[in-house]
Amino acid sequence: MRYLLFLYVLINILNLHSVAQAQKHFGKNMKIKLDQPSFQDVDFKTLLDRRYSCRNFQNRSLKLKDVSSILWATYGMKADAVTHATRTVLSAGATYPLELYLLVGPAGVDKLKGGLYHYIVEEHALKPISEIDKRRQLAQACLGQSFIEEAPVTLVIVARFQRTTYRYGDRGRRYVYMEAGHAAQNAYLAITSLGLATVEVGAFEDETVNRILDLQKDYVALLVMPIGYPFQS
Ligand SMILES: Cc1cc2nc3c(=O)[nH]c(=O)nc-3n(C[C@H](O)[C@H](O)[C@H](O)COP(=O)(O)O)c2cc1C
Repeated sequence: MRYLLFLYVLINILNLHSVAQAQKHFGKNMKIKLDQPSFQDVDFKTLLDRRYSCRNFQNRSLKLKDVSSILWATYGMKADAVTHATRTVLSAGATYPLELYLLVGPAGVDKLKGGLYHYIVEEHALKPISEIDKRRQLAQACLGQSFIEEAPVTLVIVARFQRTTYRYGDRGRRYVYMEAGHAAQNAYLAITSLGLATVEVGAFEDETVNRILDLQKDYVALLVMPIGYPFQS
């Protein structure tokens, strides 16, 4: 019995240790659980008035809690949903064809190591994929739009068309593009409400971006959104 108790305590200590180290070292099967989303009250008209496309970012780290809120607003699950809708965005036939990836600069986000992450929607968590800073490669693949390299964080909206075309055939493709737009608009508004800014980038070399993100064959990057503190308010 004492042996079992010792083992239990040891496992918990190791587990806590690995969580504490989560931001420092990428481990296999490791996931970083994100904070619950939180936003300040901003009048809706003011929010729309403030939204714009920004291409000039400060060299300043984002807060992990803000990144968490942005990911949730863009494609998150509503645990406390007040309606039957389970996600922050609509989806044709609730097929949810999108995935979110995050490129983080070396000091891009407090409490988070730089690199490439995949957002696990169901767990509201980030799964590390690579520790390499790929922002320069991404900026080049986006036809040299250099502000992508300067932004501390870049969100990439990726589609798995088959999830929707399986149900709707070829027409499903147009639904997927529409849904990427819905998610991107949610992202713009969330980012704006947090005093940050972004720009939706659609001009890029598809194959190169897919390769940078290490995507599987049937995944396609649709939109690239660098995020940061803007110079102008
Ligand atoms: C589908 C799409 C693709 C876009 N691609 C780019 C892009 O590659 N680079 C860029 O700087 N802006 C891009 N934009 C942003 C537009 O240039 C911007 O929204 C437009 O100029 C209006 O400005 P505003 O967003 O500040 O209102 C794109 C916007 C959309 C909707």
